[in-house]
Amino acid sequence: MRLASAIRPATDREVPLAVDVLRRAGFGTQVARLLEYPRRSPDGVILVAEGEGGGVSGVACVAAFATTGWIGALGVAPEARRRGLGAALTEASVRWLRNRGAQTVLLYATEAGRPVYDRLGFVAEERAVAWRGVSGGAPPADLQRLGEPDRARLRALDLHATGERRDAVLDTILPLAGVAVAGDDGDGDLLGWAIASPWGAGTAIAAARPEVGVALMAAATAGPAAGTLIVPDGNIAATDALRAWRFVRLNDALRMRLGPAVAWRPDRQFGLFNLFWG
Ligand SMILES: CC(C)(COP(=O)(O)OP(=O)(O)OC[C@H]1O[C@@H](n2cnc3c(N)ncnc32)[C@H](O)[C@@H]1OP(=O)(O)O)[C@@H](O)C(=O)NCCC(=O)NCCS
Repeated sequence: MRLASAIRPATDREVPLAVDVLRRAGFGTQVARLLEYPRRSPDGVILVAEGEGGGVSGVACVAAFATTGWIGALGVAPEARRRGLGAALTEASVRWLRNRGAQTVLLYATEAGRPVYDRLGFVAEERAVAWRGVSGGAPPADLQRLGEPDRARLRALDLHATGERRDAVLDTILPLAGVAVAGDDGDGDLLGWAIASPWGAGTAIAAARPEVGVALMAAATAGPAAGTLIVPDGNIAATDALRAWRFVRLNDALRMRLGPAVAWRPDRQFGLFNLFWG
């Protein structure tokens, strides 16, 4: 109880301390960039567990969408582990998200995190894998540059792919840098889009058809430098393409949820923003 009550939103002074904890918890050197969204958005928060002497010993980053919410970048300093802080941070995150209207709380779990989430009632869905490499060149597809007028169509396809209303995060992407494939039946829908974001480990890609998704993946990683794509294992077309292009598996994580299943279509997601909010 004492630990749970010491979990609260980070002050500005504590953000660098939170970044340091997450680096030491193995989240890599780019994690500060990832924290910018929950730090600045009214729909996100960085929760910290107080350490000794005004320090920070644990961190959880949280992002709320309409009826879903995500817990990401949850880490406890190595010297403060196995005292219940990981569980307390998860519970505090769930409470924060439920207060914001989340019926389902989602996360991508590492092997170390899974037992903590299992105990709190999260159920396993499927894995997402981060891959790195250079594609063999883009297959033919009619790529257009994305622009401001495309926002509503971009949101519609994102809702179709994720089952979530992620406007809060999509609307933060300014300018909208990316490419899209328009539908061929003249109704104005997008068949696919690929966008870079300030907090993406990889390019985010959604597509209504496998060949469109694979073409966007190829375009996003055409080189010369290697690119990263994070893809749900359930997207067979995407995984087959990455294997054919000889991409290397960097790491993976298990999608878990607490609450009712979301109408998620992994076969429509060809790139996740990150392993924080998918
Ligand atoms: C995963 C992680 C956050 C867990 O943090 P934690 O503070 O150690 O978590 P908890 O203390 O709640 O639970 C961890 C274990 O300690 C046990 N524990 C909790 N309180 C305890 C106590 N007072 N005495 C002894 N053991 C205790 C728990 O039962 C649990 O055991 P098990 O996993 O072996 O079954 C931490 O290991 C970490 O930061 N890992 C690296 C980053 C990472 O993988 N994050 C998860 C991203 S999804």
